[in-house]
Amino acid sequence: MYVYEYMRILFLDQSGKPGGAELCLIDIAKPYRQNCLVGLFADGSFRDLLEKKQIPVKILTNQAIEVRKESSFKQGLASLNQLLPLIIKVANIARDYDLIYANTQKALVIGAIASFLSRRKLVYHLHDILSPEHFSKTNRTIAVALANRFAKLIIANSQASKNAFIEAGGRGDIVEVIYNGFDSKSYQINQVEVKSLRQELQLEDKFIIGHFSRLSPWKGQHVLIEAIAHSPAEVTAIFVGDALFGEQEYVKQLHEQVSKLKLENRIKFLGFRSDIPQLMSACNLVAHTSTAAEPFGRVIVEAMLCGKPVVAANAGGAIEIVEPGVNGFLVTPNKPQELAQVITTCVKEPSKTSMLAENALCSARSKFDVAIINQQITQALSKI
Ligand code: UDP
Ligand code: GLC
Repeated sequence: MYVYEYMRILFLDQSGKPGGAELCLIDIAKPYRQNCLVGLFADGSFRDLLEKKQIPVKILTNQAIEVRKESSFKQGLASLNQLLPLIIKVANIARDYDLIYANTQKALVIGAIASFLSRRKLVYHLHDILSPEHFSKTNRTIAVALANRFAKLIIANSQASKNAFIEAGGRGDIVEVIYNGFDSKSYQINQVEVKSLRQELQLEDKFIIGHFSRLSPWKGQHVLIEAIAHSPAEVTAIFVGDALFGEQEYVKQLHEQVSKLKLENRIKFLGFRSDIPQLMSACNLVAHTSTAAEPFGRVIVEAMLCGKPVVAANAGGAIEIVEPGVNGFLVTPNKPQELAQVITTCVKEPSKTSMLAENALCSARSKFDVAIINQQITQALSKI
C-alpha cells in the first residue's frame, strides 16, 4: 500500500490567492485528496483551483490576519488575541488527521500551536528566504522559534531557503530540500496555438520578452522596463501577473516609468492569466528579474519546460535551476544594462540561444518531474 492511500493530512495556507506556494501545494495535496483537507485563512480563486482538482477545501476564517512581513513584536502579540479562535478551530479539526502541513508563515504560527494542542505532528513547507531583505526580525524570530520547537520536518523549496533558515537560527537537522514539481506535458503547446496567440497580442513580427510574476517591487518589473529602453527596437515585453498583495503604488510607478521612457508601444501589461504555458510559448525569451534573492522561482522552470531561453537574476533558488552558458543566462540582480546586453545577444544569436533552450528543456524535465518530487515528499513524510 502507498503511504498516501492512508495518510490523513490537514494542509494549512493563509492565502486565498494563487501565488507560487499555493500552486505548489495543489500538486502536493493531489495524491492525498481522498483523505486530506486544505484549510485556508482567506477565500479566493485558490479555492476554485483546488476544487477543480477535487481536493477538499475549507475556508477556516473570513477575518484578515493583520500580521505583515514587516510587523513588530508588539503588533505580533496584539494579533495573537485575534488568532486564538482560529487556533482552537484548527486544533479541533486536526484531531481527525495524522499531521498538520503548514504551507505559509501564518499557517506555521496557527499550525504550530494547534499541533501542540491536538498532539499532531507538524510539517512546515518553507517557501521563503528568511533574510532581512524579505522579513522583519520579529517575523524571522517567531518563524524560526516555532519551526525549531514544533516541526518534525521542514521541507525547504531550495538550498537557498534552507541556508537562510539555518543562518536565522533554524535547526538544519530537520530540513530536507525538495524542489517544486511540474507536469511537463502541460507545457507542450502546439505551434498553431502559439501563432494565433502572437497574432492576438499583435506582436507577430516582434521579439517578445515575457515577464511572469505578480507585480511587486522585489520581483523587479522596473528592471526589465529599464532594460527594454537599452535593447534593439524590435524588442517588446509582456508583463503577465497582477498585484496580489496590495502593491498598487508600485503598479502606478511602473506605468509612469513606461510613459517617461516613451515605451508605450513596446510594453504590454496583461494582468493575471491562467494560460501561462501558452503565453510563455509565444515568447522569444523569458526574463526573471527579482531584486531580492528568489526562494525558488517557479516561472524559471516553467519557461524551461516551454523550451524557451531564460535569463534569471543571479541569486537564491535561481542559481540551483540555471547553469549559465549551459541551459540559460544569469545576470546580476538589479542591473538593467547587463540584462539589456543578454537580450541583445539573444536577438542577434538565435541559434546559440535555442541550443541553451533545448538543454533547459531536458534538464527541467528530469530535475523537476512532479511524479518524482511527489515520491520525495511521500518518502519524507513517511519517515517522521
Ligand atoms: N502565475 C500565474 N498567472 C500569472 C502570473 C503568474 O498563474 O498571471 C504563476 C506562475 O506561472 C508561477 C506562479 O504564479 O507558477 C508564481 O510562482 P513563482 O515561484 O515564480 O513566484 P511567487 O509569486 O510564488 O513568489
Ligand atoms: C514562494 C517563493 C517562490 C517559490 C514559491 C514555490 O512563493 O516566493 O520563489 O517558487 O514559493 O515554492
